[in-house]
Amino acid sequence: MSSELLKALGLDATNAGTYLGNGQWSSATSAGVITPLNPTTGEAIATVHATTDADYETIIARAQEAFKVWRTTPAPRRGEAVRLCGEALRAHKDALGSLVALEMGKSKPEGDGEVQEMIDIADFAVGQSRMLYGYTMHSERPGHRMYEQYQPLGLVGIISAFNFPVAVWAWNAFLATVCGDICLWKPSNKTPLTAIASMKICNAALREGGFPDLFFLINDAGTELSQKMVADKRVPLISFTGSTQVGRQVAEKVAHRLGRCLLELGGNNAIILDETADLKLAIPGIVFGAVGTAGQRCTTTRRLIVHESIHDDVLATLVKAYQQVAGKIGDPTDPANLMGPLNSEGAVQQFLASIEKAKASGGTVQTGGTRIDRPGNFVLPAIVTGLNNSDEVVQHETFAPILYVMKYSTLDEAIDMQNGVPQGLSSSIFTTNLKVAERFLSAAGSDCGIANVNIGTSGAEIGGAFGGEKDTGGGRESGSDAWKVYMRRQTNTINYSDSLPLAQGIKFDL
Ligand code: UN1
Repeated sequence: MSSELLKALGLDATNAGTYLGNGQWSSATSAGVITPLNPTTGEAIATVHATTDADYETIIARAQEAFKVWRTTPAPRRGEAVRLCGEALRAHKDALGSLVALEMGKSKPEGDGEVQEMIDIADFAVGQSRMLYGYTMHSERPGHRMYEQYQPLGLVGIISAFNFPVAVWAWNAFLATVCGDICLWKPSNKTPLTAIASMKICNAALREGGFPDLFFLINDAGTELSQKMVADKRVPLISFTGSTQVGRQVAEKVAHRLGRCLLELGGNNAIILDETADLKLAIPGIVFGAVGTAGQRCTTTRRLIVHESIHDDVLATLVKAYQQVAGKIGDPTDPANLMGPLNSEGAVQQFLASIEKAKASGGTVQTGGTRIDRPGNFVLPAIVTGLNNSDEVVQHETFAPILYVMKYSTLDEAIDMQNGVPQGLSSSIFTTNLKVAERFLSAAGSDCGIANVNIGTSGAEIGGAFGGEKDTGGGRESGSDAWKVYMRRQTNTINYSDSLPLAQGIKFDL
């Protein structure tokens, strides 16, 4: 089954991990081998040859050449290139969605959903290609015109994580492409196959459409090549998705060379449930947010802050719902399952360590919290009570399905708890009280990049800007005006008069 799927997507038992441009995949084998493991069985799926330094230099040189042509290609024409990618992804949605499920371990509907996000951002980017708007300003001087324009930036380095192995690339690459940039992608070495498959689908579409190479792929067996790209002045923008710890190192390196960074780092997302909450909406919202993608979304619901008057009922209902989920944990490529395995053995160890830490801090595990006795990285999602928001284990993002349920009595207290963590990605409140909802969304409410009412913390649409504050890194991707980070802004003043008046009324008579 898996070898057929690989074949359908142009993959083999051994794969080149470097796309050099000109339709050429590198044959170099000296930079090490990456072996993604099937999280369902622990077995190798296939192997991938990593990228050599020499190939990296070839890519940079070719990308720089490609940029010279692409930056002056009209933006709507650049949109046409992305439209073709979107069409090709539509044709391959089922197969690519299955490969995401196989290699990453998320459920098949979520794998398909991830490919849908790629298609959605492609459509969005096509429209955006006719809307790279800048302002015009009224000059203070007579006979002068001022305006601003957005110009292509150059090479964009995209470092993506295993949990959204293809969508995050598309959010960046499709917008960067309509902005006139050329992209270099370094995927997670846990999910190189989905990256190679996406690259093959999109690059074939571009070549068929008569477009030049716009997307290059590198794979890194360790971290050396990624560090080289991060420090490389020839790559003006680094878009990094991953942990806060690594993101901080990336930010420091890029700041040192005064480059530009787009950071999408950890989250520690909470849902507040007030006493008026509609539980018919809230319970499925919480469960999907907490156990969806086996708790491996940066938007996963990690904390539930419940009004004390409904706490016990909500907890009992949630424990029941978790028991239902427990019956539907298994092979993620089987669409009947709601939850697959964690992506790696390391993630299982972190999950178990956090459960131990929670217990040692006085927490009670209400359900789950153990490894499932079968091959692969399967765990039972956990609900933990009895901890304080300030406890170290609650403050920390464990990339696994652990939900800390806590009580509150006043709204101010709940909002303080919601904001009282280092991260600031996503947040939500379930309430039917308009005043409460508006307070949560006010300047004195949630401090996160995403704040929702009556929907959960995860599953954001691509139309809004995606990202968060504080330790989440401050970056914004996908919708709204997130395209601006992929361009350089230029202010232009044109004098069409016969004199040279100086700004601020300065006189300088020669
Ligand atoms: C991530 O986990 O890195 O909002 C991205 C969501 C998805 C994206 C998550 N649209 O959950």
